[in-house]
Amino acid sequence: DWNSGNVIAEQVARIREQVGTGRVLSALSGGVDSAVSTALVHEAVGDQLVAVFVDHGLLRKGEREQVENDYVASTGVRLITVDARETFLNALAGVSDPEEKRKIIGREFIRAFEKVQADLVAEAKADGEPIRFLVQGTLYPDVVESGGGAGTANIKSHHNVGGLPEDLQFELVEPLRTLFKDEVRAIGRELGLPEAIVGRQPFPGPGLGIRIVGEVTADRLEILREADAIARAELTKAGLDAEIWQCPVVLLADVRSVGVQGDGRTYGHPIVLRPVSSEDAMTADWTRLPYDVLSKISNRITNEVREVNRVVLDVTSKPPGTIEWE
Ligand code: XMP
Repeated sequence: DWNSGNVIAEQVARIREQVGTGRVLSALSGGVDSAVSTALVHEAVGDQLVAVFVDHGLLRKGEREQVENDYVASTGVRLITVDARETFLNALAGVSDPEEKRKIIGREFIRAFEKVQADLVAEAKADGEPIRFLVQGTLYPDVVESGGGAGTANIKSHHNVGGLPEDLQFELVEPLRTLFKDEVRAIGRELGLPEAIVGRQPFPGPGLGIRIVGEVTADRLEILREADAIARAELTKAGLDAEIWQCPVVLLADVRSVGVQGDGRTYGHPIVLRPVSSEDAMTADWTRLPYDVLSKISNRITNEVREVNRVVLDVTSKPPGTIEWE
């Protein structure tokens, strides 16, 4: 019988055994998986852990504040925020291919960590304990879909598994590797994390970078961030969060369509709503959202986000469509 208390005890013992007195660096992404894996490792090794939050500029509205304030308050984890927005934008300039984007984002993530590591090494020198470990919030479905499981094809290189560079200097600590999302949430609650973090929708490591179909630019990110915030606010207001697994909001940056607003012709971009229902993200169905909620989201986005003149609904199950568009 599955019990979150048992899993925590088992993982804590396992982490202590793997890590010993070594220092551990953790990648907080703003998502549930990294929040729970980091809290779990903190539970196991306390101040041997330093959490690093890379603001790659691909975050949703308000996410950085949620990590810096709420998460730190509830866990007592030592957090370092790295502002890498420029670096990521530069690295992604001119790139439209989804796999290439994923690889670049994964690579820049690791580079950002290695920089922090270099800074922390000097500090750790006094104790004689270098930072040798890196926490990853890899879940079972990530392992399977990245080809880490038995006999499965590589569908997408998840930035926390397949996207890792060859020259990785850390040994990975992956306490969620055998778990599904609902189990991770149960563990997070048991560890006392706030519901706002534990109940949050899954959000991919590469963030909004893989929700812009086309090149990622600062302007496009701003458009998508606003549209996404509106969709999220309206879904929450309608009480639909528990019913929806996640609802990616996607900007078709290379597509334009003609519209009309007031007396004027517009030539703007479409936003795609991709609400899905799922048990574990391995398969999914599109969520039958109430028309009035869809209507409200559509009206607000087209009124409040100037560059968007059309909102469309993705009605594809997984398979054949993946949840994310890239
Ligand atoms: P797909 O698009 O493959 O997504 O159907 C399945 C689930 O995984 C999330 N996802 C990711 N999570 N790093 C992550 O941590 C990634 O690179 C990544 N890509 C997709 C996606 O949001 C969905 O929940």
